Amino acid sequence: MHLVKKITVLGSGIMGHGIAQVCAMAGYNVTLRDIESSLLDKALEKVKWSLSKLVEKQKITQIEADRIFHRITPEVDLELSLRDTDLLIEAVPEDLGLKKKVYTDVDKFAEEKTLYASNTSTLPITEMAALTGRPERFIGLHFFNPPQLMRLVEIIPGRGTNQHTINTALDFVMRVGKEPVLCRKDVAGFIVNRIFIPLVHEAAYCLERDGVSMTQIDSAVKYKMGFPMGIFELADYTGLDVIFKATSEMYSRDTRIVHPHPKIKELVDAQNLGQKTGKGFYEYSGNTYERVNLTPEEAAKYNPISLVAVSANNAAWLISNNVCTKEDVDKALRLGMGLKKDLFGTVEIFGVGNVVEKLREMASKYGSRYDPDVYLQSYKSK
Ligand code: CAA
Repeated sequence: MHLVKKITVLGSGIMGHGIAQVCAMAGYNVTLRDIESSLLDKALEKVKWSLSKLVEKQKITQIEADRIFHRITPEVDLELSLRDTDLLIEAVPEDLGLKKKVYTDVDKFAEEKTLYASNTSTLPITEMAALTGRPERFIGLHFFNPPQLMRLVEIIPGRGTNQHTINTALDFVMRVGKEPVLCRKDVAGFIVNRIFIPLVHEAAYCLERDGVSMTQIDSAVKYKMGFPMGIFELADYTGLDVIFKATSEMYSRDTRIVHPHPKIKELVDAQNLGQKTGKGFYEYSGNTYERVNLTPEEAAKYNPISLVAVSANNAAWLISNNVCTKEDVDKALRLGMGLKKDLFGTVEIFGVGNVVEKLREMASKYGSRYDPDVYLQSYKSK
């Protein structure tokens, strides 16, 4: 196995700065690279805020926080940032054209020993690996937002990724205190986003179809499906630009995966990108971290069976297509999205028969993309 000592994170946005912090917290020296020092300054401010939260909650001491902070070196010069790096984690915006440019430049400077990992949330790993001179040493390492708190990392080998790289990735993920789930096939959305992204759109359709409010849906998602946040709240928290890009990518690969609701594009076109711009589905006051007020009383007003059905159907697709096991789905949703209840446990509470029936009803009204997956049809309650 390849022993990782020095790490370079490319891109200092929401994911990049968080991943750099996670690595520094595990004792690694990290170079955080971005194209402008003003972006790096903002990223380091966010790291400071996060570390101060962890100190406040007594997860680490102030002395440890200071040491962690100093393990992160900001760098604008790409060549310098790649010097002596064992593992490169690319977390630049989700645009294949941009990634192409980044990997062409990286290939000029990276040392022979450097393994490449992309934190892409939906782009095809095999295609990105092919942009580089080392496809056998290229892998997907997908962290979840906020990386400092979410314990999951999806590991996605491309078609050409060798076993040595997979083993190194598994070992690295555990060394940074995270839990890996192997996504056996390079499918659109991997595991979590295959469930999460279509759910955002479905919730937007439910607003109209069921004539309910956002907080009713969100409260039901939180109190009846075990999510830590409502789905619109989570979309705003993730960033609607991120959701939109992931949607477009998934839809371009297969139109049956996700049924884009126009509201997301409208919000993105108006630059209402969620919490970070002060407005998305909800409005925010501009604080670093804000939550929407969701209540059990509001939850009582809405039955989220369509949302349970659509998430379970996408999970079922992953299982019947041998992308991962049912246990992997439950683990990924628990550690990547903070679900407090297993998805299939929720399906059992709503009744497998009712869920399948709901999908059939939706298929007859809205199209065959809702047809229940074979795994769900033959699912036996415990
Ligand atoms: N670092 C340190 N502390 C942080 C933090 C960070 N980055 N972000 C938030 N916190 C703090 C909060 O400020 C809060 O502190 P206070 O108590 O002092 O206010 C504390 O953590 C806990 O927050 P909450 O009280 O709001 O509690 P919570 O139990 O809901 O936990 C959460 C917060 C972990 C974010 C939880 O809501 C959660 O798991 N949400 C779902 C997140 C999710 O689904 N992520 C995946 C999105 S999809 C994705 O990332 C993939 C993709 O490719 C698009």
